[in-house]
Amino acid sequence: MPSPEPQTHLNKVEGPLVETRGLSHWRDGRCVMQIGDWQLQPRAHALLLGPSGSGKTTFINIVTGLLTPSQGAIFVAGEPMSILPPAGRDGLRRRTTGLVFQTLRLIPALSVTANLALAQQLALGQVDRAAIAAMIDRVGLSHRAAARPRQLSQGEGQRAAIARALITRPHLVVADEPTSALDDANAARMIDLMFEVADATGATLLVATHDGRIAHRFGNRLNLEAPQ
Ligand SMILES: Nc1ncnc2c1ncn2[C@@H]1O[C@H](COP(=O)(O)OP(=O)(O)OP(=O)(O)O)[C@@H](O)[C@H]1O
Ligand SMILES: [Mg+2]
Repeated sequence: MPSPEPQTHLNKVEGPLVETRGLSHWRDGRCVMQIGDWQLQPRAHALLLGPSGSGKTTFINIVTGLLTPSQGAIFVAGEPMSILPPAGRDGLRRRTTGLVFQTLRLIPALSVTANLALAQQLALGQVDRAAIAAMIDRVGLSHRAAARPRQLSQGEGQRAAIARALITRPHLVVADEPTSALDDANAARMIDLMFEVADATGATLLVATHDGRIAHRFGNRLNLEAPQ
């Protein structure tokens, strides 16, 4: 990695990085996600598994403070994400977490480079152009660095979204099906990159996937049940 020192705002997380207590989520009178008590310890990279509709994206939205759980509580880096006010959640997410959305959510008006620069500015308060260029090179998009998201293929967009999540050197990298649109070579390359960045920065991975090409890389699994 270009920068030798982790540039995160929280230097060390004591205790679990993510902790849930009695966590479940209900929609329209139906339980759509049931986890209960669970802990993600630092460096215990975890796979989030479960059939379609079992609540993986719901859980990721709760971990990242984008959704309030209907029952129970969730703590991220020891802070009570689920009861913080919206500004507090945004701040906690920016300080701790890099997120790869299932639907990518790159900012359409910005180039790949500018998407990464904005993420860095928001999380770290500064932009490191050399680190951004190096990260874009790592995901194989140097020739598309000036492109807008809509000009990218699905797999290129996924690689850009992964680069954006990693560029802030977060404590927690949360990714929702990050390799679903990638060919075998790029899927292997992206998972290698995620593990390598995690090793270099002390980050912990939480990855939802059905992708058997990457699932075997994780020792820690959280299985969600099929919806009732
Ligand atoms: N806005 C919504 N309103 C009502 N129900 C919803 C809403 N969003 C999701 N659901 C339901 O909640 C359940 C969990 O959805 P979720 O997106 O978390 O599943 P998932 O495990 O991520 O599935 P996939 O593997 O298909 O991405 C599903 O039954 C889904 O239909
Ligand atoms: Mg999903």
